[in-house]
Amino acid sequence: MAAVERYLTGVLAVESSEETMSTGRLTSGDTEGLVGPVHDGNASAEAPPHGVDEPRGQVTWHEKGLKQSRLSDLLVKAYGFQVHWLRQRCLKLALRLEDGQFHSATIRRILARYYRVRVGAYSYGDCLVPGAFPENVSVGRYVSVAMGVRIIRRNHPTDCLSTHPFFFNSRLGYLKADNLPVRHLEIGHDVWIGTGAVVTPGCSRIGIGAIIGAGAIVTRDVADFAIVVGNPAKALRYRFPEAVRGLILKSRWWELPAGEVAAFMAQMTRPLGDDPWWHPLLAKCGNAAGKN
Ligand SMILES: CC(C)(COP(=O)(O)OP(=O)(O)OC[C@H]1O[C@@H](n2cnc3c(N)ncnc32)[C@H](O)[C@@H]1OP(=O)(O)O)[C@@H](O)C(=O)NCCC(=O)NCCS
Repeated sequence: MAAVERYLTGVLAVESSEETMSTGRLTSGDTEGLVGPVHDGNASAEAPPHGVDEPRGQVTWHEKGLKQSRLSDLLVKAYGFQVHWLRQRCLKLALRLEDGQFHSATIRRILARYYRVRVGAYSYGDCLVPGAFPENVSVGRYVSVAMGVRIIRRNHPTDCLSTHPFFFNSRLGYLKADNLPVRHLEIGHDVWIGTGAVVTPGCSRIGIGAIIGAGAIVTRDVADFAIVVGNPAKALRYRFPEAVRGLILKSRWWELPAGEVAAFMAQMTRPLGDDPWWHPLLAKCGNAAGKN
């Protein structure tokens, strides 16, 4: 193990002076002052059995804009040793070499491979903490996840003699296979989840552009662009009128790399209003369905 540490420390010195291989068009300056540390969370307690294949080997549009260091394969493999300090070092190295949370392809590969959590480019926060999100969660691009967000993917049984996990969780030694499914959760692009929100198994989709208020208990699906608050979470309002929501969905602006979106900074920082055809990304990406 000490040899692996020495090797990783050695290559860091060399690698930092080299350019990382970028799959997008962003520069290191984009993350300055914004990147927080990623920690190990309760990784070893929550990680599914190893040997799980990554969902995709190649970079897809979902990951477009990420940066992948030449050490990525090594870091992903080394993380699999389940040694706390080594895992910490792999995560730190990946963040350092790949310009932090927003851009790191290696952190996302680790999450996909060992935790079955998929996170798109530029998404950040608790979704990137290994072990913080349970398996079967897929997070879109440009998603903001605040601290203390909890995602719960299955209930204990309510109709059996006992609610205890001995009787549904095979990892506890009494069952050959789990007998309760872990439900999938899809978190759409550009979602913002406020501090301390809890998502229960009753919710399987948080729509594109939705906002989850601080402390909300989300028990049902959330519509695209809805703002939901409270316990149980209820819709406060939509962010935009229906026609605008449709236009944004058609634009699929989130597929663009951040560098391209940032070229329209003046328009990105101005409220859309009820008639947002002036916005170049909606006009440009709005395809043939444009305003008649
Ligand atoms: C959901 C949220 C975005 C709504 O903001 P807003 O549109 O400015 O809403 P307002 O403050 O005008 O409140 C509108 C109503 O919703 C209620 N409300 C707002 N946020 C709420 C919340 N998190 N839980 C319960 N009720 C909430 C308000 O009490 C108010 O109710 P009223 O009309 O009966 O008085 C915001 O309140 C919130 O929760 N933000 C999350 C912040 C956060 O967690 N940041 C983490 C760092 S990224």
